[in-house]
Amino acid sequence: MSAPNKSYDPVEVEALKPEEIERMRDEALAAFAAAADLQQLQEAKTAHTGGTSPLALANREIGALPPQAKAEAGKRVGQARGAVNKALAVRQSELEAERDARVLVEESVDVTLPYDRTPPGARHPLTTFMERVADVFVAMGYEIAEGPEAEAEWFNFDALNFTPDHPARQMQDTFFVQGPQGGDAADESGSGIVLRTHTSPVQVRALLARELPVYVVCPGRVYRTDELDATHTPVFHQIELLAVDEGLTMSDLKGTLDHMVQSLFGPDMKTRLRPNYFPFTEPSAEMDMLCYVCKGASVGNPDRPCRTCSSEGWIELGGCGMVNPRVLIACGVDPEKYSGFAFGFGIERMLMFRHNIEDMRDMVEADVRFTRPFGMEI
Ligand code: PHE
Repeated sequence: MSAPNKSYDPVEVEALKPEEIERMRDEALAAFAAAADLQQLQEAKTAHTGGTSPLALANREIGALPPQAKAEAGKRVGQARGAVNKALAVRQSELEAERDARVLVEESVDVTLPYDRTPPGARHPLTTFMERVADVFVAMGYEIAEGPEAEAEWFNFDALNFTPDHPARQMQDTFFVQGPQGGDAADESGSGIVLRTHTSPVQVRALLARELPVYVVCPGRVYRTDELDATHTPVFHQIELLAVDEGLTMSDLKGTLDHMVQSLFGPDMKTRLRPNYFPFTEPSAEMDMLCYVCKGASVGNPDRPCRTCSSEGWIELGGCGMVNPRVLIACGVDPEKYSGFAFGFGIERMLMFRHNIEDMRDMVEADVRFTRPFGMEI
């Protein structure tokens, strides 16, 4: 074993020379100080404290030194690395504080900005009014019934006693749905599907699907080939009522209609019936309600004209009647035992005179300036 080599000079190891270590340390400190953000600091950290950084490589050289030189070199490198780590930690917290301050400014929310940039809409008056009408009947124990808008011709016409050549089929101005084979949809190659022209097919569906007695109210969208103008729209809404039970008479129909208009327009309201024809009711009637504005006072009274009813005293609402026994038979109901009444009317028309709406197009154009004043009325 040889004696320790007293003459060994550690400066001979280039990387461990004091001035080299100082230079490495100072470069690291300068790089940290120069890092403008956390990303740059991360890069400087890797370069100056990582496994291949000059100080880490110098540290590795220590192992190769003779024992008496190791302590001094170790101390020098260790102090340099300590200073580097400390400077790194200081810069790190400086930059983090800077970033936090910046984020607070950049991502702050200005709570004084107007809050209603996307104002909530309002429910459409057609919807709220249909629900309101339906509620009058639900309160009497009726159930809501629904059917498809693309309806089988059989439900829309045949089961309702419209014969194939019945003029009403044209009278109703129907949209026929073209079958997959194309061709003239209205002829025999058609699909047998129409866009329902009224809510009356739901009467048939209700009678076929439900146990007797049946008391249903059917609100829904219907279609006719009208041009859109101030008083027509090809898509509109109806409410249909059907009651089938033992012993129902025309006076039950009249009482129900009176109750409906009184619930909707006030206790002194009433209805009147005028003879009419529908294939699915017999007898059939046109139903009018007393003008809810003038209550008839404008009739024959030029001093008190009424815009709502054009001084007629009555407003036409829709059709009604006793369910035709042929319809009951088509639905498997015994007309000897059961009878029923039905009526249907258009919602748009009723809304128009109820709110003095002059143009039906306002109701279909989805302009919130029209719906908003109605708010959340129910
Ligand atoms: N469905 C008829 C129409 O659309 C109205 C109606 C309903 C008539 C029920 C009588 C009974 O005009």
